[in-house]
Amino acid sequence: MLEYTLRTYQSPTRLVQRLGAIQELGSEASQLGMRRPLLVTDAGVKAAGLLEIALESLRRSDVEPVVFDKVRANPGVSLVDEGAAEYRSQGCDGLVAIGGGSSIDTAKGIGVVAAHKGSIVEYEWGHSPIESRIPPMIAVPTTAGTGSEVTLWAVITDPKRKIKFNVGGTPHIASWVAVIDPELTVKLPPPVTAGTGMDALAHAVECFTMSYHQPFTDAVALLAMEYVAKYLRVAFSQANNLEARYHMSAAAMLAGLAYGTDSAGAAHAMSQTAGGVHDAPHGALTARLLGPVMEYNHSGEPERFARMAAAFGLDVRGVSTWRAAEMAVEYVHELTRDVDIPSMQELGFGEDEIPMLADKAFADPQTIGNPRDVDAAAYRRIYKQAFDLGNKNGAR
Ligand SMILES: [Fe+2]
Repeated sequence: MLEYTLRTYQSPTRLVQRLGAIQELGSEASQLGMRRPLLVTDAGVKAAGLLEIALESLRRSDVEPVVFDKVRANPGVSLVDEGAAEYRSQGCDGLVAIGGGSSIDTAKGIGVVAAHKGSIVEYEWGHSPIESRIPPMIAVPTTAGTGSEVTLWAVITDPKRKIKFNVGGTPHIASWVAVIDPELTVKLPPPVTAGTGMDALAHAVECFTMSYHQPFTDAVALLAMEYVAKYLRVAFSQANNLEARYHMSAAAMLAGLAYGTDSAGAAHAMSQTAGGVHDAPHGALTARLLGPVMEYNHSGEPERFARMAAAFGLDVRGVSTWRAAEMAVEYVHELTRDVDIPSMQELGFGEDEIPMLADKAFADPQTIGNPRDVDAAAYRRIYKQAFDLGNKNGAR
């Protein structure tokens, strides 16, 4: 379809990537003029020995960071505000985030508050504008999923409203540099590999099918889908398979670029709002919802769903558009089973919560742009199927 709506694309993030790229961290920080950055990370990164490797690289370039290692999954408003206070009181001159989406989003949030004033809650999308660029920041992902190292968004939890909200939609919030080192992901346990990898797939699928797509985001989304289809099962089965890890890290980055300045779709409207209700891992929760959302959505954009089937490596020669679209949906259901994505119940949800969860998803701004019109009743149906699939799979 030809498009008259103005679409723009801007990424201010320098990509630095290779196996062992963490060794470049110090020189990249130095080039950005950092001497005393706030290093934002979590206890898991520290325990895996990755913090030590990062510190060595920084110190080789005479960069001595202040370590802020209090990040937890689904970071909240108070954590970000505390980090920003630490940034100011320690006289920091930049940010280094090492970890998954939680650490990177926390650092972006700290950057927004440091560059402005007040609390991160004021900068929810649609509220106070982000008028200045965040201080120099380097993101070092240790998972392959969120793509937060290149996105223009941070997702923050508001425990008062029991939701997660988005901050960003502007290049001002993007990391200045992304150091992508697939070797950092080899110690991830299989459930984390699976959940985060499926999250990358969800970004690619949702951004390829949502109404905001444009040629550049289509291109990166399709390659991300190809890589996930080819390598996620391998990375899940062989933690040390560097070829699989390399391509999953690339998939996460490409799918992150597919966001552009826009948001995702129904699966993320659901997982981000539900993730504010119960403290479930974002990747696994999004993965559990992706198949049912695609099943609901495929009738809105059949050609695009059929194109995805080809990206997944399915043989669609001689197959009708409608059948190919269905094949793409079936494929994602299958992949969800193959990588042992937990059930809704295992993720901490009960079926009695469906009406509340559906209402929250419907109120999320990512509902707009979804490839099929969706209302609260439709969200209830999608949630019901997500719960049923988990039941059918027994322990899954
Ligand atoms: Fe996501």
